[in-house]
Order: sequence, then C-alpha cells, then structure tokens
Amino acid sequence: RTLRIGLIPGDGIGREVIPAGRRILEALPKSLGLTFSFVDLEAGFETFQKTGVALPEKTVDTLKQECDGALFGAVSSPSTPTKGYSSPIVALRKRLDLYANVRPVKSVKNTTMFPDPIDLVIVRENTEDLYVKEEKTYDTENGKVAEAIKRISERASSRIATMAGDIALRRQRVRDSTGQTGKSANVTITHKSNVLSQTDGLFRSTAREALAHFQSQGVTVDEQIVDSMVYKLFRQPETYDVIVAPNLYGDILSDGAAALVGSLGLVPSANVGEGFAIGEPCHGSAPDIQGMNISNPIATLRSVALMLEFLNEEKAAAIIYKAVDANLEEGKFLSPDMGGQAKTTEVVEDILRRM
Ligand code: NAI
Ligand code: MG
Repeated sequence: RTLRIGLIPGDGIGREVIPAGRRILEALPKSLGLTFSFVDLEAGFETFQKTGVALPEKTVDTLKQECDGALFGAVSSPSTPTKGYSSPIVALRKRLDLYANVRPVKSVKNTTMFPDPIDLVIVRENTEDLYVKEEKTYDTENGKVAEAIKRISERASSRIATMAGDIALRRQRVRDSTGQTGKSANVTITHKSNVLSQTDGLFRSTAREALAHFQSQGVTVDEQIVDSMVYKLFRQPETYDVIVAPNLYGDILSDGAAALVGSLGLVPSANVGEGFAIGEPCHGSAPDIQGMNISNPIATLRSVALMLEFLNEEKAAAIIYKAVDANLEEGKFLSPDMGGQAKTTEVVEDILRRM
C-alpha cells in the first residue's frame, strides 16, 4: 500500500518539525509493505503575506484529490485582527469535514509528576459550538454588548460520540493484545447541562444515545460537568480513558491536559473525518525558538503515528510510539523544553535509531 501524504509545515517551528515527520515515515521498516509519497503544500501567515490568502485553493484541492492523509505543522496568527486573514487549519477542518480533534495524553516515565501512569484521549467536536463564530456587537445605553451563538446539533454530537466509542474499543484492543491490564474501556461525556440545559443538554442526551450500543461491547459510559472535570483531571488524571466534549470545552481541556505530561512539545493531535486524517502537533509556531534547531519534534512524531492509526496502519503507528517512548524513558537525548540539551535533529536521530 502506498499512502500519499500532504506536508503543510506552515510557519515558525512547523518548518523544523514537519521534515522530522517525513523522515520518520520514510524510516518505517520495509517489511510493513507500506510506502509513502509526499507532496509539499502551503498555508499559513507567511503564505498570506506573500499571496493574500492563508489557505491556497491548490492546497485544499491537492489534499482532496490526491492525498490519503496530511501533516500540519503550525501557523502564526496576527495578534490583532488582520483584514482577509483567517486561520487555515480552522478552514481546512471545515473544507475537509474533519469533524473530530483527537488528542491523546500519555505519560512516560520522566515526563510527569503524577505517580500513576496517565493514558487518556480527548475527543473534541470540531465543527460547531461557540466556534461557529456567529458574533455580533451592538450599542446599548449602558455601553457595548457582544454576543455569540453556541450551536449544538444532534448530527455532530452523535458522530463525535460514535468516534469516541470506536476509539475506546480500539484502545481496549491494543491493551488486550499487549497484555496490559488494570484499565477498561470508558467514555466520559463532558458538558454543563445543569446551566445550559438546551445546548449542552442536547449534546449529553445525544452522546448517551450514540454510545448505548458500545456498552454491549464492554465500553462503560459516564458523564461529568466540565468544571468538576477540570478539578478531577488535575487530581486524578489516571482515572480517565476517553473523554468526549463539545468544541470549546474540548479545546480548553486538551491544552490543560497537555500540562499533565511535561511539555507542549510532546502532545500530538489528529483532525479526523471520514477516511481522512491530518496529524498536527498541539503547539503553535513558537517564534521564540524558531530557527534554533531546539524545538521538540516528539509532538509531531506522535501526530504522525496518530494519523497512521486513523488510516488503519496500527502496526506502523505502534513502532513510532515505541521508539518515542524509549527515547523519553532513557532520557539521554531530550530537547531543552524537557530539561535536556539535545538539538531537534539529535532527538530525531535517536528515535530513528530505535526504529
Ligand atoms: P506556542 O505553542 O507556539 O508556544 C508556547 C511556548 O511553548 C513557547 O515558549 C514555545 O517556545 C514553547 N513550545 C511550543 N512548542 C514547542 C516545541 N515543539 N518544543 C519546544 N518548545 C515549544 O504558543 P504561543 O507562543 O502562544 O503562540 C505562538 C504562535 O503560534 C502564535 O502566532 C499563535 O497564534 C500560534 N499558534 C498556532 C497554533 C496552531 O497552529 N495550531 C496553536 C497555538 C498557537
Ligand atoms: Mg487550543
């Protein structure tokens, strides 16, 4: 099988970590029977400054017509609203209907202050909620008022919950096949329906319904109000397996959860739709360290593995995860954000050696 992968480095350290992602794919053992071809694609703030658009049509068309998956680095955004600029990754998620943002958060020895291993995944709805960006501002006698629409649909809530159920089953399969015990498949539905009874109420009841048939396959389902979830996530992160959340809560929870395992430079994500996945490290373009060859490539390498999982190449993914974990556990080649002194390229070389 040959997979064609679009490479979208974007801005800043995106240009240092995406080449690392490509190298790791090229280094996968030939015995997998898997080969890759690559196509370089543009998007980002520099692209916008050069061409007036942040996401060229050519990038979208190539992804749609030629590619099986893609890797996205990071893009810088202007700190003040800039006419004509809008985030390319947000647009890509829409154009390709990548309705889920999936973020595994996993601790490896040396990367967390928690005694018990953390191994959870946040499945964030990616198309609606407050992020439909339907906002308005108007004047009143007491000054300006701004409002935003929070939109929750049955369709989006149902398909995100179904994906969470599928992921819970897959994780259970992997644990069973590697003899890991102790944890069993669980999905926690996140909401605030005690206050937002209609919007979050709909999310909650729809997710419950969609998850019902997973229960007969051994997945337990529970739910939690988002604020109490933040508390418990930071006290007992080891108790979670799969968390499913509407867009805004999912955004906040997943950045927060990244702090549980050491560095933003470690946490991967994937934007997933029907039959397509874009791997994307959770961090931004990190202008403070760009061009210095010290950015941590691991978030990207794990995003590569995550993309492969959603393209049904679980074996290839496992090889990458294992090599990355071994690099972290040994701790000889760690980038500065992890307290080490290794260059980006040295971290990559160490991981390639282990594959
Ligand atoms: P950031 O994630 O770029 O950086 C935050 C801090 O973490 C910085 O000190 C940075 O050096 C460090 N860091 C991030 N990734 C790292 C890595 N791989 N290795 C080592 N250290 C790492 O977030 P920040 O500074 O808030 O935003 C910078 C730019 O990135 C902004 O223009 C922002 O809009 C954009 N951004 C883009 C995102 C995306 O493309 N998905 C996500 C977040 C921010
Ligand atoms: Mg975020």
